[in-house]
Amino acid sequence: MTQREITKVITGFKQYTQDDVRQMDEVTLRGLLHERTHHNIEVPLYSILVKWPNKPIAGFGMQAQLVFDVWREKGYTEDDPDIKWCKMYLAAAAKVREGVKPDIGDPQPEPFSAEEMKVVHKLLWGRHSVRDWIKKEVPDWMINKVIEAGIAAPIGCNLDEVRFIVLKTEEEKSWCWSDISTENAVIIVIGYEKRPTAVVGQDLPQAVPQNRGFDCAAAGDHMLLMAHALGLGGCWLSHRGGTDTKFKEKWGLNDENIDISLHIAIGWSAIVPVKSSRAPFDYYMIRKGDKRYNTGG
Ligand SMILES: Cc1cc2nc3c(=O)[nH]c(=O)nc-3n(C[C@H](O)[C@H](O)[C@H](O)COP(=O)(O)O)c2cc1C
Repeated sequence: MTQREITKVITGFKQYTQDDVRQMDEVTLRGLLHERTHHNIEVPLYSILVKWPNKPIAGFGMQAQLVFDVWREKGYTEDDPDIKWCKMYLAAAAKVREGVKPDIGDPQPEPFSAEEMKVVHKLLWGRHSVRDWIKKEVPDWMINKVIEAGIAAPIGCNLDEVRFIVLKTEEEKSWCWSDISTENAVIIVIGYEKRPTAVVGQDLPQAVPQNRGFDCAAAGDHMLLMAHALGLGGCWLSHRGGTDTKFKEKWGLNDENIDISLHIAIGWSAIVPVKSSRAPFDYYMIRKGDKRYNTGG
């Protein structure tokens, strides 16, 4: 296959000509660029590096390149960190096509030191749900740190679809259903942009539509950990049926492009509950022939 032969962008479920790609709006195009860089370069690249073939791989990464060419043609930013990340992989793919092994990544990350592990333990096992808050403002820099932690969370197909809405007033907060009082807390609603998933077809029933909610959940978990590290209390709050419709209507959210999944409350704890304990390790494990779940087969 030569590089010229690549005229289509093919994701697992959709395909586009370069002209189709040119018709896409910026959010959609960015999603496609993220996904193609991820699946067309990042994921296969490391296996190629491990078993380096010592010869050019024609066409490698050219789908991502085709999408990026449109991105550049449209004059969109090339300075944002995510786009720089795509460009780094595009440059590596160009080398692979020439048969030159790119120098990229460190295959063995350093394990944490014993001291660092203590911090990790403190974070994971020290976090607990807090449901009462004192009247003390949560500064914006802390709210932003919590959101940054959500942005750092794992994300299906690297689609960068999770979005956040900060609610501070009692009226705004009342638009989200909650089984606890959120007085004095800040609520952060976590939702997803639909376009990046839709453009690659990951929302189709035969694909991974569940990832949209999972992406929001992963973000929420990271955010609660960061809130804890900052000395704040936090609680994951479920979206009871109807919450999203009411909230979207009140906030004036465009139903076509955005959906919401959950919200978390963060604030200064009025009282610190005893952390719930978990059952012993083996209780959670399902080993072959486990009588609790065994079909007898
Ligand atoms: C999917 C999910 C939904 C939750 N929904 C609520 C909720 O609506 N209200 C609430 O007070 N806590 C909610 N929580 C918090 C749990 O009750 C809490 O994490 C659990 O009791 C364990 O306690 P810990 O967080 O202190 O370890 C939820 C947690 C998860 C993961």
